[in-house]
Amino acid sequence: MKRVLLVIGGGIAAYKCLDLIRRLAEKGYAVRCVMTKAAQEFITPLAVGAISNERVATELFDLEGEREIGHIRLAREADIVVVAPATADLLARMAQGHANDLATAVLLATRSIVLAAPAMNPAMWNHPATQRNVRQLETDGVRFIGPNAGEMAEKGETGVGRMAEVSELVERIESLLAEEAAGADNGFGFLTISGTRGRVSSSSAPALAGRHVLVTSGPTHEPIDPVRYIANRSSGKQGHAIAAAARRLGARVTLITGPVQIADPEGVEVRHVETAREMLAAVEEALPADIAVFAAAVADWRVATPGRGKIKKQANAEPPQLELVENPDILRTIAKRGVRRPTLVVGFAAETSTVVENAQAKRKAKAVDWIVANDVSEETGVFGGERNKVHLVTAEGTETWPEMSKAEVAETLLQRAAGFLAQARESV
Ligand code: PMT
Repeated sequence: MKRVLLVIGGGIAAYKCLDLIRRLAEKGYAVRCVMTKAAQEFITPLAVGAISNERVATELFDLEGEREIGHIRLAREADIVVVAPATADLLARMAQGHANDLATAVLLATRSIVLAAPAMNPAMWNHPATQRNVRQLETDGVRFIGPNAGEMAEKGETGVGRMAEVSELVERIESLLAEEAAGADNGFGFLTISGTRGRVSSSSAPALAGRHVLVTSGPTHEPIDPVRYIANRSSGKQGHAIAAAARRLGARVTLITGPVQIADPEGVEVRHVETAREMLAAVEEALPADIAVFAAAVADWRVATPGRGKIKKQANAEPPQLELVENPDILRTIAKRGVRRPTLVVGFAAETSTVVENAQAKRKAKAVDWIVANDVSEETGVFGGERNKVHLVTAEGTETWPEMSKAEVAETLLQRAAGFLAQARESV
């Protein structure tokens, strides 16, 4: 039976932990809980204890508790330690290596995977101090989920800062434990885990430090007239996840995105564009880059002559005829550049049938190094969804990856790309 140690921080999202404990228990996990002093302002140890069916640990210097199960055992017996909600204060204390209460002492003593689910006001999340702490913790091997964008507990406040949903947390816990069970390297280049369990070596620099990664994301909008446009169903989730993963791996990242409803990833330079031609211009301007990943769903066609004013519906008249012309192919243009071609050019292929074959043909036709092929048929839910199942098509062959969250696809892809660059450097 896998053991989850849940460290509950002091935020309004603490109430979600009750549901989290229940969901994990339903899946057969043993859940023990540690609550900070602040957490007990939001939910009671009594409620947490009743749902987890375990004594809740709250004090570092608790004679009875230490006799029963000391903080070192709490830390060591867990297969994964989940910090939820990870408040700005708790993240700061973790980043500094504090051990002045039970929660931080356990986090310092553990050798297990640590997953943090931040939750706080968007201004606190975006503050350079919090971002610095998050980067430090990532370097120390802490894994993160969220925060998500949306409405805050404070009336009228929206932004990035909501704790990940319980279902997302359960899914991530399961995938991290599966990853761990598979020996931390499942052949797809997940994070290199070394030394003590689950911790990324902190002595090595992040895999993409010093590199520039360019990513395109989202749809393009091609105007029909000033109020109408041609678009597609891309949400930008996959492309934005790639930009965020590249940033986490230490790269300088430029994200060029079409119109989307999701937040800009932190620490990334973002260029917002509307049309394919604007996207191409922004990509050209952002070069040179070491890696370029083209995840945007660029419209293949645009209206030859968009109306200057709103095209009027005329009574009893024929509908207007729209003449379409081809848009520039951004991926092909960049991949075929003689000068300032990125070392690694990665395209995506959005297919609804014969996915791999079409992607292999696309790789050759567009002269790209790798193609990430995904099935965007309606039933897969890839457009706009949280998960993706992809095939990586390279000159060496095609790999089919298991279904993962878009964040995991991004992380796996970027780890592979980092390995590619490292090899390219060695062979020079
Ligand atoms: O945004 P999400 O909701 O998360 O969905 C993710 C996604 C399905 C959009 C993404 O995973 C994806 O597949 N992106 C590529 C979509 C696409 O346009 O595929 P394509 O097969 O039509 O194009 C092939 C490649 O050429 C792509 O890398 C595309 O960015 C690029 N392209 C296409 C046309 C064009 N004019 N310029 C381009 O650069």
